[in-house]
Amino acid sequence: MAEYAAPRGTRDILPAETQKWQYVESVFRDMCALYGFEEIRTPTFEHTELFVRNLGETTDVVSKEMYNFETKGGRKLTLRPEGTAPTVRAYVTHNLGAVLPVNKVYYIARIFRFERPQAGRYREHTQLGVEVFGSIDPALDAEVISFAAGFFREVGIDQFELKLNTIGCPKCRPEHRKALLDFVESRLGDLCETCRDRYERNPLRMLDCKEERCQAALTDAPVMIDYVCEECRDHFAKVRAYLTEMAIPFVLDNKLVRGFDYYTKTAFEFVSGELGAQNAIGGGGRYDNLVEEIGGAPTPAIGFGLGLDRLLLTLDAMQVQLPLQPRNAVFVAGLGEAGHEAAVKTVCGLRKNGVAADMDYTGRSLKAQMKVANKLGARFVVIIGDDEIAGDTVTLRDMSSSEQKSLPTSELVEYIKSR
Ligand code: HAM
Repeated sequence: MAEYAAPRGTRDILPAETQKWQYVESVFRDMCALYGFEEIRTPTFEHTELFVRNLGETTDVVSKEMYNFETKGGRKLTLRPEGTAPTVRAYVTHNLGAVLPVNKVYYIARIFRFERPQAGRYREHTQLGVEVFGSIDPALDAEVISFAAGFFREVGIDQFELKLNTIGCPKCRPEHRKALLDFVESRLGDLCETCRDRYERNPLRMLDCKEERCQAALTDAPVMIDYVCEECRDHFAKVRAYLTEMAIPFVLDNKLVRGFDYYTKTAFEFVSGELGAQNAIGGGGRYDNLVEEIGGAPTPAIGFGLGLDRLLLTLDAMQVQLPLQPRNAVFVAGLGEAGHEAAVKTVCGLRKNGVAADMDYTGRSLKAQMKVANKLGARFVVIIGDDEIAGDTVTLRDMSSSEQKSLPTSELVEYIKSR
């Protein structure tokens, strides 16, 4: 059977688990409604160029992790390795900026990255993300961050760290880059091979290398905050002030750079102590030039994405009990042929009246049916055998109290609804 296992880095999410996914997704959708985000759904794959040009050719995602394929006609396509570029592409394609001055959208999307699988890192994962287009107001940075923090708390994660940084803009970055290159030049031998390559191609990324030797060598490296222009400095000060006012704790991490080249100004990441190496449960930032780079009018923007898979791992590790609804409120156990037929009728009647109900289709004994009802988490079991049919009644068992009583068939729906 091995050849039919799910491909490496992917997983089957089974019914016992999907309930949790749905719960978290519904909390997310409710929060989006509260904050005025509307859903956008973009294709699972896009033209390869969209990602290569706009995420940064030297980023890990573009240089190593994309699932690329070619159509018969020779067009190069890529399974989306993140949700921001496709959302911006859709924003530009449909000129959404002409519809509203500020557009706020959210998505729940499968994301594909050819990474080395490990706990919390998959080749297919799900991201819940939001993006806001059309304003440079630092209050919006604070809103997006407070949305994220509020969402984590709402689902039951109250212990996380919010890391915050500014990574400047094209105006101020060159000066920092120069200082960083000067600083590293004499220390190149101490860096890992990847960072030596980054030195040439994408120096900023050296700052958040996870290798100990690089961290040690770069402890005193020049950081962006000391080089930002007045506009970026001002913006960052206001974001921090808003967050403080909103009572959202954060730690300044002047080495946080994030994994894509499109970011400008504010960058942030949420990390959970419950996860191992893959401890980022979400991250985002501003990307004020991306809309223009993708072909739209200059439009500042900000967003964030969180990994649903990792969020659920965190909830499990914290042993958070999610308020999940039992799947079937009522299980109808029919005994014998007549009981089975009556059960079919009863289940139909319950469902017609909006009561979730299910029954047995395998001709099991009452004891076996009760076991199934238990597994399904039924609140009530309706038992119908020959005696019940003769008296036009049903036997109702309350699974939480184990109490059993007889009811006229005609009163069943009302009785259950009243509970
Ligand atoms: P990202 O930091 O690459 O940002 O991904 C966001 C989140 O997705 C991560 O914090 C992590 O929780 C989760 N994640 C990433 N890769 C994996 C993986 N291989 N397995 C499981 N979970 C993973 C972005 O993708 C940006 N588009 C976010 C953004 C939106 N920035 C602005 N707007």
